[in-house]
Amino acid sequence: MISMTIILFLCIMTYILKHQILIPIRHLTQKAERDRSQESKDDTNELKALSLSVDWLIEDIDHKHNELEKNKENMIQAEKLAVVGKLAAGTAHSIRNPLTSVKMRLFSLNRSLHLTPSQQDDFKVISDEIRHIDSVVTNFLEFSRPPKINIQKVCINELIENTANLLKYRFKSINVDFKRSVDPNLPKIDADPDQLQEIFVNIIVNACEAIQKGGMIIFKAEKKIDPVSQEYVQIRIIDNGPGIPAHIQNKIFQPFFTSKKDGTGLGLSIVARIVGEHGGMIDLLSEDGSGSIFSIKLPVEYKDKKDK
Ligand SMILES: Nc1ncnc2c1ncn2[C@@H]1O[C@H](COP(=O)(O)OP(=O)(O)OP(=O)(O)O)[C@@H](O)[C@H]1O
Ligand SMILES: [Mg+2]
Repeated sequence: MISMTIILFLCIMTYILKHQILIPIRHLTQKAERDRSQESKDDTNELKALSLSVDWLIEDIDHKHNELEKNKENMIQAEKLAVVGKLAAGTAHSIRNPLTSVKMRLFSLNRSLHLTPSQQDDFKVISDEIRHIDSVVTNFLEFSRPPKINIQKVCINELIENTANLLKYRFKSINVDFKRSVDPNLPKIDADPDQLQEIFVNIIVNACEAIQKGGMIIFKAEKKIDPVSQEYVQIRIIDNGPGIPAHIQNKIFQPFFTSKKDGTGLGLSIVARIVGEHGGMIDLLSEDGSGSIFSIKLPVEYKDKKDK
């Protein structure tokens, strides 16, 4: 009986030992091992991530270095261009004075000489070529001038009359009818009259060059009010030349873009710059074969960008 009790006691003790102590210890050991192997895996992952980051960093540094090199080259190129620009402007300036005196002499000779028809032809070629040199020089000078405008109250009507007077021989020589339609109640606008004249001359001369022989140019100006009730003057210069092909329309305001054999491609870029300096806008409406309309909006009241 005693031995039976001892055996039963041992069985109970074995069961308790196994289930309450050994099995939990084994579980703990297994878990610890699992954790240890997981830890070493984590260490390897971290190392891998670190090495990847270093690789990316090196790649990034290489990329930045290349970019810096490129920027340096661009800056050197821009500096060279600035020097060339200054030289060109200086040369243009030096050419202008003797050219003005040649123009004056030519003008007085034209009045006093009695030329034969063939001499008159020669004389016309000389005058045209001088006018061309003059426009190239003027464009370069205008392009390189600092952005300074002399704002005054300007009467568009008077200004377009002066422009028409300036270009009357040109209109006559290519048989162009220049019509004006300016609202008589048009307010005076805040603008630089010389710069505004530059805009008109450039656009009208382009129209003459496009028309070539026999055509019409219309200058229209009217007062408008925009949605924020700001008064502005809308000027439209319309020609019935061949129009501007769609594929070059987005290029014509870029400096040095020209479709002409002897154009500088500066005229419209100067126009766009002057319009911008006056706080205005310029748009083109043209279809191949059906003329061109340049529409310019200029605010009646000038607001200096520095004051905005
Ligand atoms: N009224 C127009 N009709 C047709 N094409 C035009 C007209 N006005 C401008 N263009 C086109 O726009 C281009 C750019 O004009 P822009 O006045 O800037 O330079 P350009 O006239 O070629 O040269 P430059 O003004 O130095 O003599 C012209 O070469 C021409 O192709
Ligand atoms: Mg031009």
